[in-house]
Amino acid sequence: MNIPSRYDALAMSLHWIMALLIIGLWCLGLVLEDLPKGDLRGQMFGLHKAFGTIVLILAATRLTWRLTHSAPPLPDGMPGLERLAAKAGHAALYLLMIALPLDGILMSQTGGREVSVFGWVAPTLMGKNDFWHEVFEDGHGLLAWALAAILVGHVLAALRHHFVVKDDVLARMLPGGK
Ligand code: HEM
Repeated sequence: MNIPSRYDALAMSLHWIMALLIIGLWCLGLVLEDLPKGDLRGQMFGLHKAFGTIVLILAATRLTWRLTHSAPPLPDGMPGLERLAAKAGHAALYLLMIALPLDGILMSQTGGREVSVFGWVAPTLMGKNDFWHEVFEDGHGLLAWALAAILVGHVLAALRHHFVVKDDVLARMLPGGK
């Protein structure tokens, strides 16, 4: 396989579109439960579920890209432990980008609600089931906080590469970066 020095346009677009969507969904998820019952709450839940399902589809596309392409190599002088942390962090992010929305779909369906993406209804993976609904409900919160924790580390690492170590790790994920 060809070893690139930068991420390509598809990888960069997926990375930044998904970053915006995931951060938006995370913030929306935080306030959803506190919204008063009514039309606005229903619409916000609908948007959270629709965009969450879009994230799942994009994550599957991105994972396919990753399994069929090489990522740019990490900088030469990077210590072994940091390399391991970067690889483990990326793997955990891929896992959570799939597991969190999938858990959300299963939580809705086991709660007896369908998941609709602007008119397209997602296939039913599980029917109504109170026990599994509770499991997926608890799981959704845990997975969301795990994603937030890993993301904080991911963003701090990217900023450290750029501003402290001053290598090209952030630039190669930015359009127009050198
Ligand atoms: C929800 C938000 C985000 C998610 C889910 C996410 C996820 C990921 C994943 C899975 C990779 C690995 C790509 C590969 O397979 O090689 C990656 C790479 C990268 N991300 Fe993010 N990211 C997010 C937000 C951010 C933000 C806000 C920044 C910058 C401040 C950032 C900077 C980077 C950089 C620089 C790389 C490339 C690392 C390298 O070249 O090894 N990410 N991101």
